[in-house]
Order: sequence, then structure tokens, then C-alpha cells
Amino acid sequence: MTIFVTGGAGYIGTHVILQLIEQGYDVVAADNFANSKPEAIARVKALCGYDFPFYEMDVRDCNRLSDIFTAHHIECVIHLAGLKAVGESISKPLEYYTNNLDSTIEILSAMKRYGIRKFIFSSSATVYSGENDMPLTEDSHTGSCANPYGWSKFMCEQIISDFTHANNGFSAVLLRYFNPIGAHESGKIGEDPQDIPNNLMPFIAQTTVGRLPFLNIYGNDYNTSDGTGVRDYIHVTDLAAGHVSAIKHLDTHDGIGIYNLGTGVGVSVLELVSAFEDASGVGIKKKIAARRPGDLAICYTSTTKAKIELGWEAKKSIRDCCIDTWRWQKNNPHGYET
Ligand code: NAD
Ligand code: UFG
Repeated sequence: MTIFVTGGAGYIGTHVILQLIEQGYDVVAADNFANSKPEAIARVKALCGYDFPFYEMDVRDCNRLSDIFTAHHIECVIHLAGLKAVGESISKPLEYYTNNLDSTIEILSAMKRYGIRKFIFSSSATVYSGENDMPLTEDSHTGSCANPYGWSKFMCEQIISDFTHANNGFSAVLLRYFNPIGAHESGKIGEDPQDIPNNLMPFIAQTTVGRLPFLNIYGNDYNTSDGTGVRDYIHVTDLAAGHVSAIKHLDTHDGIGIYNLGTGVGVSVLELVSAFEDASGVGIKKKIAARRPGDLAICYTSTTKAKIELGWEAKKSIRDCCIDTWRWQKNNPHGYET
């Protein structure tokens, strides 16, 4: 089966492509390098030893999509391309809505024209409203999103759901990722934020190699075990494996399926920092700062539905995540530019 992966040069896309190829799928990938580098694709090709077709393009370009769907017998699309920086989405809402919604609409339209019936979408835990009890389940309340990025994922989910209901035989899986961290165990691919990282793990990793002077801990007065925020951190290769399980699910199910991809375990900021210090052997300079606006105290998922219906669960530990992130960051202190 040939799978079209959008956003293939990104953090999650590179790991997804590797697993697809390891599992015997053919891959065609596309990316416009808005938040990634050609070197990422070169490294994926070197790791898997396969020169899969790659297109540098904006996936909103319907003519280029038609060219690809004419040239390759695509049976499934995994749509990871999107803008994802929460803070930037507040200052540039139109860019986020245009990019994330139009790309989804153009891809679904091209799939309809070419009779492609299987679709997997990168959604996010950010679609859940802040009022829910933990753990979050797929039936927890969505909406009331805290920023345009979150709303763009919420709206894409609605578009995909409406499209699926209107098109008999079309099937879609919405994967709501929790907090992906870690890197491929080779140390050759990993997360390479273009600017100062927004997320905790790349901030820890860059502080450890001396690119950043210290880590701000955003709040130590939450109602959690040590007062710092708690999240459900999932290794990116476990997350990638969830996409392979979703493809298998699409082989036997019509309609729409929604799955949370996380570990089911909440880990605090201080616990993650301490695990990284153990894995790297390097002490991390840190300061307690004010709470970050919009942050929840605790966010983690139930894993029951993904286990039962996808036959998938995360296997790697927080220590694995830290060891693999450290290997990537130590070998590539400046990311793919090293
Ligand atoms: P990433 O930025 O590393 O990868 C996204 C890729 O999409 C980038 O390579 C970027 O250049 C590309 N892209 C963006 N717009 C494009 C367009 N119009 N045409 C072609 N390429 C385009 O991000 P990631 O962490 O790999 O995330 C992948 C997906 O997962 C995104 O949709 C993101 O919103 C979603 N997600 C990520 C997280 C996370 O914490 N990393 C959590 C939940 C959901
Ligand atoms: N944190 C710090 N210091 C930092 C960065 C983060 O203390 O420098 C704390 C945050 O306050 C929070 C925790 O670390 O308690 C995790 O923060 P992240 O920014 O790494 O992750 P979030 O849970 O806030 O959000 C991320 C993505 C969202 C996505 C969500 C769920 O940024 O886009 O995970 O998938 F929706």
C-alpha cells in the first residue's frame, strides 16, 4: 500500500515515515519546509536505505496534489502538515486558520477526485476544553479552545467528520496526540525547533547543551504532587507506531474513529527535569517563574479506547524518552544544521 505523508520533514512526520517503511509500506512525502529542513528527509532516506519520492510543495496547491495522485497509486493519506506554535497562532491567527484548514480541505477534495478513501489526521489534546475531569477520554468535552491553533484543530476535526459522513466508503481516523517527546534511537532524527522552543522537552535539551542559559519552570503552585504542571509525555516512536495501527484499523472500519494517543501517566515538570538530568548526567539550571497563561495544571489521557480498538499502547518509559532526546541533542547541538 502506498501512503502519502504530508508534513513528512517535520518532527513527527520523519518518525512516521521511518516506521511505515520498516513495516513494508511505500511512502510518498511532501513538505514546504515552513518549519523543517531538507536534511531531515536526507537522514530518513539514509536510515531506511530507500529513496522514496519526496515533493517540496505547499499541500494547499491543488494542482500539485493532482499531479501526485496521478503519478502514484495512493491508498491512504496521513496529514501531518500544519503550523503548530501556540503563541504564534495568537499573534498570526489568519496564517494558522488559512494553513491548517485550507490544507485539510484541499487534501480531502483531491482525495475525493481520485477516489482515495483512507485518511489519518494529526489532531491534538488541545481540542479538549479545560473543564474536563482527568483522565481525558475521547468523549470528554471539546471546544472552548485556548488559542487559534487549538481552534484550527477543532475545526479540521469537524470538517473531516462532515466529509466522512457525506461520503460513503470514506474512512478517517483522528489521532489526538498528547505530548510527543524523544527521538529516534539512532540519534539521527529528532525535534529541531526553528526558534527558541515553546515546549518543555526541547527547552530542557537545549539548556543541557548550553544553547539556552536556564529553564523557566512556569509555576510551582499548582495543585499537583510537587506544584508543577503535569502532562502525558509520549515517545515519538510510540506515537508513530500509533499511525501504523490506525492504518490497519482503516482496512476494516468505515466512518470516523477518534483516538487519544498518550501513555495514561502524568509526569510533572520537575520529574521530567530530574529524569533528563539522570539520563544526561548534566545538571540543568532552572528558575521558578510565573504560571504561563492558558496552561492547565494537569492533562493526561485514558488509554483504554486505543488499546481495545487499535490494539496499540505506548511502550517506552520517560527514561527512554530522555536517553533518546539526549543522544539526538548531544550529537546535533544545533539540530539539522550541525
Ligand atoms: P513540525 O512543525 O515539526 O511538522 C509539521 C511539518 O508540516 C513541517 O515540516 C512544516 O514545514 C510542514 N508544513 C506546514 N504547513 C505546510 C503546508 N501548507 N504545506 C506543506 N508542508 C507544511 O510539527 P510536528 O510536531 O511534527 O507536528 C505534526 C503535526 O502534529 C502537526 O499537524 C501538529 O499540529 C500536530 N501535533 C503536534 C504536537 C506536538 O507537540 N509536536 C501535538 C499535537 C499535535
Ligand atoms: N513548561 C515549563 N517551562 C518551559 C516550557 C513548558 O515549565 O519552558 C511547562 C508548562 O507550563 C507545562 C509543561 O511544561 O506545565 C508542558 O508544556 P509544553 O509547552 O511542553 O506542552 P503543553 O502541554 O503546554 O502543550 C503541548 C503543545 C500543544 C499541544 C499539547 C497537547 O504545545 O500544541 O502539548 O498535545 F496541544
